[in-house]
Amino acid sequence: MIRKALDPSWLRICCVSGARFNFSPHPGRARSLPVSPCPALDYISQKALLPALSYFTGACLGREASPRAPLGHLAQLEPHLPHCKMIGVLLLLFLPFLLYIAAPQIRKMLSSGVCTSTVQLPGKVAVVTGANTGVGKETAKELAKRGARVYLACRDVQKGELVAREIQTMTGNQEVLARKLDLADTKSIRTFAEGFLAEEKHLHILINNAGVMMCPYSKTADGFEMHMGVNHLGHFLLTHLLLEKLKESAPSRVVNVSSLAHHLGRIHFHNLQGEKFYNAGLAYCHSKLANILFTKELARRLKGSGVTAYSVHPGTVNSDLVRHSSVMRFFWLLFSFFFKTPQQGAQTSLYCALTEGLEILNGNHFSDCHVAWVSAQARNETVARRLWDVSCDLLGIPMD
Ligand SMILES: NC(=O)c1ccc[n+]([C@@H]2O[C@H](COP(=O)([O-])OP(=O)(O)OC[C@H]3O[C@@H](n4cnc5c(N)ncnc54)[C@H](OP(=O)(O)O)[C@@H]3O)[C@@H](O)[C@H]2O)c1
Repeated sequence: MIRKALDPSWLRICCVSGARFNFSPHPGRARSLPVSPCPALDYISQKALLPALSYFTGACLGREASPRAPLGHLAQLEPHLPHCKMIGVLLLLFLPFLLYIAAPQIRKMLSSGVCTSTVQLPGKVAVVTGANTGVGKETAKELAKRGARVYLACRDVQKGELVAREIQTMTGNQEVLARKLDLADTKSIRTFAEGFLAEEKHLHILINNAGVMMCPYSKTADGFEMHMGVNHLGHFLLTHLLLEKLKESAPSRVVNVSSLAHHLGRIHFHNLQGEKFYNAGLAYCHSKLANILFTKELARRLKGSGVTAYSVHPGTVNSDLVRHSSVMRFFWLLFSFFFKTPQQGAQTSLYCALTEGLEILNGNHFSDCHVAWVSAQARNETVARRLWDVSCDLLGIPMD
């Protein structure tokens, strides 16, 4: 079939262009050919299509392809060289169409990792921060589907109530409750925790999911840089305030939603609030690195308590996260076709919250429902301990 596909008579059908390549693998036999009006296409055809075709036909005809003479079969292909240009044109023309057709398959490939746990959660209590949209909403929905009483901790409680009603209708679980939690204000965090502790006897799953990305330089109500304040310090304080309840309810779990972006992060203790220098993209990365360091230190401190902690990268998800950056919004719009849906993005958080026997991997980082590699900084125990102490100091939490 391949031989037939390369049959000159078939290729001839494609040939409507009279232009020929000014190219020969044997300089001695080089002919003087008309130069194409499109040098870029010539270049692509000569540098990519022809060598590929040469290798391909060589392999198909059972000839040896030598890396030293990669164009060894070009002499035989020479009569068909003009067709390469036509194939190039066709490929370029059809590329958007091919991508459109292949998008669902590519997205499926990029979004491997599904939480296959069948664990049901009647009588269990879960808190999900930032649950009114994106990954958090889908995480809360799945926990509710499995019968848990789910608290949607949202900074805009009206949005939270709308989503709570939507999840109640969808899952038939009436125990989905919206509560106000603004992670950019420690007073709001303390009020949420007081209310929750007064209302609930147990807490089995805490998902620290809320996040902001690439905000222009701004500060929280307590004067912390926004990314560090919301993504790390806010969740640090919330976890601390709910820790006794988690211990009383053991076995229980904390899942911190971090990101692959932590690889670009650094903990600059002398510039934790971004006052000396600031870059919105890097500020996000630093805060996501802090999420992993916090998880590792929390897991270390809680060993033997029945409470375990995990950090996750949800994947690249088509969500509102990029709302603060017009450049990122443009890229998201352009490539969103290939990104995970929020429901796919929720899988790793759910995997860490639900999978039985995961306790032995306490403190690990997960991506696509597998343990994932983290940067050297994220493995640095000294930095993790220091960040814990500095965070306690900033939040007025007594150090133990
Ligand atoms: N999307 C991705 O590609 C991606 C990749 C890696 C990691 N992540 C992480 O995944 C998590 C979820 O992100 P997402 O993609 O689902 O983004 P999203 O749709 O923007 O959701 C973020 C959530 O956080 C909430 N939030 C923001 N600031 C808050 C505050 N001060 N207090 C309380 N809640 C606040 C938002 O509430 P409002 O709606 O009221 O603003 C929203 O509910 C984040 O931690 C993010 O860093 C996402």
